[in-house]
Amino acid sequence: MGQVPLYYSAKTAAIVHKYGPGPRIHFHVGLFDPAHQPPNTTVAQHVIRRRLVASQEAMVKRAAQLWDVAGDRPDELLDVGCGLGGGSILWAQDHGASVTALTIAADHAPLIADLARQAGVGGLVTPVVGDVHELTSARRYDAAVAFESSGYMDRERLFQVMAKALKPGGWFGVQEHFLRRPEWTEFIDGYYHTRLGTLTEYIAAARAAGFDLEQDEDVTDEVTEFWVQSMAWSTLEIDRTAGADSVPVPRERLVESALTHGKFFRVWRDRSIETRILLFRLRGA
Ligand SMILES: C[S@@+](CC[C@H](N)C(=O)[O-])C[C@H]1O[C@@H](n2cnc3c(N)ncnc32)[C@H](O)[C@@H]1O
Repeated sequence: MGQVPLYYSAKTAAIVHKYGPGPRIHFHVGLFDPAHQPPNTTVAQHVIRRRLVASQEAMVKRAAQLWDVAGDRPDELLDVGCGLGGGSILWAQDHGASVTALTIAADHAPLIADLARQAGVGGLVTPVVGDVHELTSARRYDAAVAFESSGYMDRERLFQVMAKALKPGGWFGVQEHFLRRPEWTEFIDGYYHTRLGTLTEYIAAARAAGFDLEQDEDVTDEVTEFWVQSMAWSTLEIDRTAGADSVPVPRERLVESALTHGKFFRVWRDRSIETRILLFRLRGA
């Protein structure tokens, strides 16, 4: 098994514990409105968890609104690097899309199917295990989305594959973090096992494959608070599980998360990394 699938398989229980119980479980950052006073973090842990999940849902719903998914509903949608399928289930439930939920983590497939059944959209969400670089389906999808998964991929290949998989005029929505200050690259890529890129690199890869950038929404300032809330969750979890024999998230990982998310807060606030929601449209409608 490769490094990325191993990383995700090992993290499943921790993801469900922190961002569950579902059925829509997301594994990406969320949005907090910077115009409002940041929410108090000296509250019960379940309050923070609910808030994290709500912020993640706000991210997907914001993207749906930007991409006008309700106005131009895709019948067939590909969710590239679908995690535990939170987004896939949302596209099916809220927009009636038939979703192919693609993941490289084989043991996530039955979990996604089960969560989709719980959500009442078992017939609309089809988990598929595979590496997106090897995808061969031709002109099948009206749209594709990638929430915090393109950072694991070779962008040139990814856009080439999407150009073949989408119908002409189809769109590819991407939510991702982009490098601005190279001194943070190693730290972030090391923590998440990613290979983040710059916005320029994405646009060049997209153009070469036949896509135009139609939308570029910078949500960096809205993500910054996510790291404070996430850090609060980790420190409360350290307190809650002190002295316990069996714990859902190993203590060392919680300590590492709390420290790292504190750094991420500064990185995002200083805009050394940016988070953006992009829409690429395949030419030739
Ligand atoms: C940070 S998670 C995001 C999950 C999901 N999109 C979400 O927002 O909840 C990254 C996902 O990308 C998937 N992934 C990484 N490399 C991949 C590849 N080459 N092909 C398909 N999926 C991949 C991982 O299995 C994981 O599900």
